[in-house]
Amino acid sequence: MDKSKRAAVIAGNWKMNMTPSQTTAFINELAPKVAGLDGCKVVLCVPFVDIAPAVEAAKGTNIEIGAENIHWEAKGAYTGEISGAMLSECGVKYVIVGHSERRQYFGETDVTVNARVKAGLANGLKVILCVGETLTEREQGVTYETVARQTKIALLGVSAEELKNVIIAYEPVWAIGTGKTATAEQAEEVCAAIRGVLADIYCEKCAEATTIQYGGSMNAKNAEELLSMKNIDGGLIGGASLKSDDFTVIVKAAQ
Ligand code: PGA
Repeated sequence: MDKSKRAAVIAGNWKMNMTPSQTTAFINELAPKVAGLDGCKVVLCVPFVDIAPAVEAAKGTNIEIGAENIHWEAKGAYTGEISGAMLSECGVKYVIVGHSERRQYFGETDVTVNARVKAGLANGLKVILCVGETLTEREQGVTYETVARQTKIALLGVSAEELKNVIIAYEPVWAIGTGKTATAEQAEEVCAAIRGVLADIYCEKCAEATTIQYGGSMNAKNAEELLSMKNIDGGLIGGASLKSDDFTVIVKAAQ
């Protein structure tokens, strides 16, 4: 499939940044800058407490709102967790699952990532599934094995039909927040390999239709080159999504 037939998605990952009032101000500032840029989907994944003001401020714009995590159970005694029903009722359309910071600092495993992916899909959300190798894994030559394992386990029990609501974000851990971007060739190689994994576990057509993002220090300067690669359909943007001008340049690069 020609890349232009896949949905391009530029998603901001705010992480633990922005208060509710800053959220409103930011979206009011961003909305006119990205208005009419319909060549890609524009998504902001925000902290839970910013969801309500974000959804409100994004009304009538081309910006969609996502969450940064989801719990796998529908409800119950899970102090501090947020369910899929809570998110969708608040107007959330996307959810990030398996971000490397969750894996590194909060005990997220391939198995819990799989449970969260399924919860997101069951609640009608589009899931941005993050995979990526650490520096040690890259240096030891197990990048492909790592992303293949993460992808395969995360998608256990996910049907080909459900895969249509999954976006894979390839985020090499060594490139996140470090200013060290993977070269366009490195990013392309792994994104192509992930597409190959999808072809193995689903089908060629399913793999070709899946949006694969690159994430890890994507910014206003390098976005165009990364997004020009055949297998890179969008970006998951951390630091640069906190600056409306930089984020707008990235959205424009994806047009
Ligand atoms: P970064 O973060 O753009 O700040 O490197 C990307 C991410 O963690 O999703």
